[in-house]
Amino acid sequence: MKDNYKVGIIGATGMVGQRFITLLANHPWYTVEVLAASPRSAGKAYKDAVGAKWAMDTDIPENIKDMVVLNATEDVDKIAGMVDFVFCAVDMKKDEIKALEERYAKAECPVVSNNSAHRHTPDVPMIIPEINPEHLEIIPAQRERLNTKRGFIAVKSNCSLQSYLPAMAVVNEKYPIDHALVTTYQAISGAGKTFTTWPEMVDNLIPYIGGEEMKSEVEPNKVLGKIEGKEIVPSDALSIECQTYRVPVSNGHTAAIFFSFKDRNNIPSVEKIEDMWRKYEGEPQRLGLPHAPKRFIHVYTEDEAPDQPQIKTAREIDGGMAISCGRLRKSTQYDYKMVSMSHNTLRGAAGGAVLLAELLTAKGYMD
Ligand SMILES: NC(=O)c1ccc[n+]([C@@H]2O[C@H](COP(=O)([O-])OP(=O)(O)OC[C@H]3O[C@@H](n4cnc5c(N)ncnc54)[C@H](OP(=O)(O)O)[C@@H]3O)[C@@H](O)[C@H]2O)c1
Repeated sequence: MKDNYKVGIIGATGMVGQRFITLLANHPWYTVEVLAASPRSAGKAYKDAVGAKWAMDTDIPENIKDMVVLNATEDVDKIAGMVDFVFCAVDMKKDEIKALEERYAKAECPVVSNNSAHRHTPDVPMIIPEINPEHLEIIPAQRERLNTKRGFIAVKSNCSLQSYLPAMAVVNEKYPIDHALVTTYQAISGAGKTFTTWPEMVDNLIPYIGGEEMKSEVEPNKVLGKIEGKEIVPSDALSIECQTYRVPVSNGHTAAIFFSFKDRNNIPSVEKIEDMWRKYEGEPQRLGLPHAPKRFIHVYTEDEAPDQPQIKTAREIDGGMAISCGRLRKSTQYDYKMVSMSHNTLRGAAGGAVLLAELLTAKGYMD
């Protein structure tokens, strides 16, 4: 590992891009060297390009304000020559994002992506760092396909998944889950919006988020899949059905989960499941990565805190990188029901991508 890595943010003016800027402001390993966005922003000082769209609680960092924004699609080779890797979070058509991320990778610039475009490319790892870090071992196969020495693409999963899959995956390791019914209640920042830019969401609930239910049903099986040869083969063991809602919450996705185990003769107790959550340590905790939450999963018991996890008490735990679970209890139609939540633009988006970059760095993939 080097002492310092130069990074670029592609889509720096967007909601997720702004989160990257705040998260990387005092990062011990990374320095933001390049900001890039659409041709609308290119050539402008960052503070002018982002203007009134700046939606973070803190001001734009001093060293970022006057950086000139580059053109994310025209300046690929220039950017690749200036940085060790890029974070990518752009709002473009899926096939355009796919091609753009491959251009960066082929220019020998690793890409850590928030976009969904490559989530189902078989040799692109889709990582929740605590759950499936072993999938990084597919990167040599991807480099072979792309004909690169350094360049590759690694992605994080959809933000809503981070609110419920970690809790299920930890239990699933020892007690395989057969099927689950999940309903997600997703914050407006997940659509890149605030209450100012989306006033219709005040006192409202929309029972539809385009494409999101499919992502929530399909992506978990890639995360739980196995490397076979030169690809990650999704698991077919867990069946999830999902309904998604957009709710009037600024940040924080919540999920209600009903689930049943495969082995009906070996169902763990509530206490056993809560204990597994509390004690779970993943690779980020073992490696002491800068953005790893000290405790991955926080547990609220039904006896002590039946009204938790709430958005306002739980979303900022450990810098918004922890998952919170509660209300685990017997169900009449499934084995159990529960509630789980996480911060969608921290753990679910930019924070999850920074943690993924830290894992990649610690494992030597950024050298
Ligand atoms: N928000 C979340 O919680 C969340 C969570 C997980 C994943 N994501 C994903 O992350 C990505 C970005 O989301 P967001 O919410 O940050 O979107 P956003 O606020 O709309 O920002 C979009 C960014 O993309 C740039 N862009 C748009 N068109 C472009 C083009 N033709 N060429 C280059 N750059 C272009 C924009 O630049 P200009 O300002 O110059 O237009 C801006 O920087 C999306 O793929 C989204 O699905 C978002």
